[in-house]
Amino acid sequence: MCGIVAYIGDRKAYPILVKGLHRLEYRGYDSAGVAMLNGNLNVYKCKGKVSDLEKFIGDGTTDGTIGIGHTRWATHGVPNDVNAHPHYSESKNLVIIHNGIIENYAAIKAELKKRGHTFLSDTDTEVLIHLIEEIQKNDSLKLGEAVRQALNQVVGAYAIVVMSKSNPDELVAAKKGSPMVIGIGKGEFFIASDATPIVEYTKNVVYLEDEEIAFIPRNGELKIKTIKNRPKTPSVQALELNLEAIEKGGYDHFMLKEIYEQPRSIKDSMRGRLNAEKGIVNLGGIAEYEQKFLNAKRIIFIACGTSWHAGLVGEYLFEDLTRIPVEVEYASEFRYRNPIIYEDDVVIAISQSGETADTLAAIELAKSKGATIVGICNVVGSSIARATHAGSYTHAGPEIGVASTKAFTAQVTVLTLMALRIAQRKGTISSTRFHQLLSELESIPAKIEKVLKLNEQIKTIASKYKDSSNALYLGRGFTFPVALEGALKLKEISYIHAEGYPAAEMKHGPIALIDEEMPVFVIATKGGSYEKVVSNIQEVKARKGKIIAIVSEGDEHVKEMADYTIEIPETDEILVPLVSVVPLQLLSYHVAVMRGCNVDQPRNLAKSVTVE
Ligand code: G6P
Repeated sequence: MCGIVAYIGDRKAYPILVKGLHRLEYRGYDSAGVAMLNGNLNVYKCKGKVSDLEKFIGDGTTDGTIGIGHTRWATHGVPNDVNAHPHYSESKNLVIIHNGIIENYAAIKAELKKRGHTFLSDTDTEVLIHLIEEIQKNDSLKLGEAVRQALNQVVGAYAIVVMSKSNPDELVAAKKGSPMVIGIGKGEFFIASDATPIVEYTKNVVYLEDEEIAFIPRNGELKIKTIKNRPKTPSVQALELNLEAIEKGGYDHFMLKEIYEQPRSIKDSMRGRLNAEKGIVNLGGIAEYEQKFLNAKRIIFIACGTSWHAGLVGEYLFEDLTRIPVEVEYASEFRYRNPIIYEDDVVIAISQSGETADTLAAIELAKSKGATIVGICNVVGSSIARATHAGSYTHAGPEIGVASTKAFTAQVTVLTLMALRIAQRKGTISSTRFHQLLSELESIPAKIEKVLKLNEQIKTIASKYKDSSNALYLGRGFTFPVALEGALKLKEISYIHAEGYPAAEMKHGPIALIDEEMPVFVIATKGGSYEKVVSNIQEVKARKGKIIAIVSEGDEHVKEMADYTIEIPETDEILVPLVSVVPLQLLSYHVAVMRGCNVDQPRNLAKSVTVE
């Protein structure tokens, strides 16, 4: 979602801003803009991509060693040039960039209008900068103090950076709900929504906390206080991120690179946590909270999107292995329906970005009721990681493609480790099964390597179905969440309508859609429900649907019925999601490329959804 980047120091700001905005493109956006200060305050902004902005600026003046840049994901007001950020104040002396939503903007706007303010855009952001300027003028305050006072009047979420024409030696930044990180260089500062625009300049960063405001000088010390005016000492942390991890490394798209990274990323998720030979599973991040799991009468997963699908796999895993009842909740539904939460509930929040607004709000709700909150996040130091009592990072490395791939398999890996550990502690798993699953889990990266070798075959299948208007995905038991995830991958990047269903449920509706045009992707690997799924395949065939089946290696039976089969290495039923999702990721990728879609930044989607 919206991306923020800003610079103050000795270098020319513009190239740093533009490069930073390119780095933030993965978050999802629909317009972009920059403002540089060099005597004049030059603002350039337009609908479209950062490259469109660069073309738009052309030979325009981009001088200045202080500047701010923004990618906008529309919330208030359509994506167009006027609604793009930065926004000016009434006098055009101040500019602002903003990520988040000011919920009471309409009331403030009405008041400001009464006092003669005119607004150019439909955004909530423009209202905020008008308010800041009015406070500053009325009380002749310093910029930072005016920002602080204004923020005490707003309700909602924000990460903002404000720049003033009359003060070219300071930027003011603040955050609540939306992320913000400040990179500290030698006599220079870099501000951004995440560390990706900063990593090549400095490894020293400060993560701004909610309701903190930062005063960022050209030369001098970074000062932080709360919006209630309490001084804070900046806590400088070392950034654990390298440049290669956020570049494409020879792949055409980040998504493809990330699909191919999975054998490595899954190993990273297990590193130091799993030793099959010695029969050890240990998750340091939850060690102190294991007793809470052992006492839990219930586990509740909260998540959104792909992470919710991982939660669904978690339900099957935890119920099967630990015998603790599990509920899986969409964070957005959970938080608004007056849920029943007990103090002995363990709530597991799953999030790649660690910034998803609904998940974060659901955590706060569950926390306020006394539940134990465990996080499974990919981004180290993210808001969700900090809001939870305990947790385990997925360690998948930065995921840039908007469609989640390696983060999903890393989440499922961590969930498997967690369920195994708790099952062992609870005594709900036999020693033989425990050891068998540990060594099987260890072999998963090699099995995924084998699936990746099927890329050409999967590409051929993709070419057959790239012009479909609809697709159905079926799975059962552990592969039902995989069917949902396969359908989500296809719809989000190729814009083909796709639905995932539990295979047996097909009879209760989707079967009406099946004709000779309809591709049906079925995960029919060996395991408990194999025979049942085979029957479902026959039901599809009887209605002339096209079957593309993911099967266990050597399965001749389904081959006879299916139009295409993709053979994947056999594994234990509970680990099948990790292997079977990979061909579906590749399939969606190729279909999207063949349809000419923007694979890494699909229309209307955002990587990090920081608004409700
Ligand atoms: C967005 C992304 C999805 C992601 C979901 C949840 O919709 O496009 O890929 O699954 O948010 O994000 P999280 O960062 O909480 O996993």
